[in-house]
Amino acid sequence: MSDNVEVPYPHYRCPSCGKDLPPEEARITITCESHQPSDRLAFTVRESNPAADRRAIEEICDKALGETEIDTFGTMFDVLKGVNLIADVDGELGGLLSMSVSGGEIVLILLSVYPERQGQGVGSALLRAAVVYAEEHGLPSVRVAVSNDDIPLLHFYQRHGFVIQEIAVGLLADSLGSAVAGFSGIPVRDEIRLRRPVCSVRHAPR
Ligand SMILES: CC(C)(COP(=O)(O)OP(=O)(O)OC[C@H]1O[C@@H](n2cnc3c(N)ncnc32)[C@H](O)[C@@H]1OP(=O)(O)O)[C@@H](O)C(=O)NCCC(=O)NCCS
Repeated sequence: MSDNVEVPYPHYRCPSCGKDLPPEEARITITCESHQPSDRLAFTVRESNPAADRRAIEEICDKALGETEIDTFGTMFDVLKGVNLIADVDGELGGLLSMSVSGGEIVLILLSVYPERQGQGVGSALLRAAVVYAEEHGLPSVRVAVSNDDIPLLHFYQRHGFVIQEIAVGLLADSLGSAVAGFSGIPVRDEIRLRRPVCSVRHAPR
């Protein structure tokens, strides 16, 4: 891990005051659709160039999780060896989706959007590009695992057609040695596993 990364790095930004928030400090507000943030950002999504993008990929992994090796579905995946899709904002990495082909399906290893780029369509565009990748490679489904505290990601994936398949109860608490505080202070305990087919794809309305 890089020496200059703040831990826990802010994962979110308060839309009211602009304060950067580590996950534990974040809180949820419910609004009607017309009061959801609707900013739009100019960006492109592309597959990474392993040499040119390596440093930027390592940096967002450091900030999101502190490492590039990620344990998901009971398997250790290295982001640097995955298929990486980048949201390019004016030549800079604004968000990353890392995936791997495993068991004849796409497994999402990491989806992370920098706080200042969130809520502007970046995560959705990266996910749509991953589904297109699966379609183009004849892969029937996409799997992802989310920790029980991570309400933003659970919301996000279910809005994009993912369905809960199973819950590995207590897996994360066991591997961490205890239930540490995650998003909003919710104890991190369980790995929630979701899947969606890549055929008859319908994207959440925005
Ligand atoms: C969950 C996540 C991938 C969503 O990406 P995003 O680019 O903000 O999402 P989009 O703008 O494409 O889509 C917004 C949708 O996701 C939801 N959402 C989830 N997290 C959100 C956030 N932080 N800000 C705004 N919307 C968010 C919105 O409610 C919206 O849902 P809707 O379609 O039902 O209205 C992103 O918030 C994220 O990366 N979270 C993990 C934290 C993290 O890794 N931080 C960066 C560390 S470097």
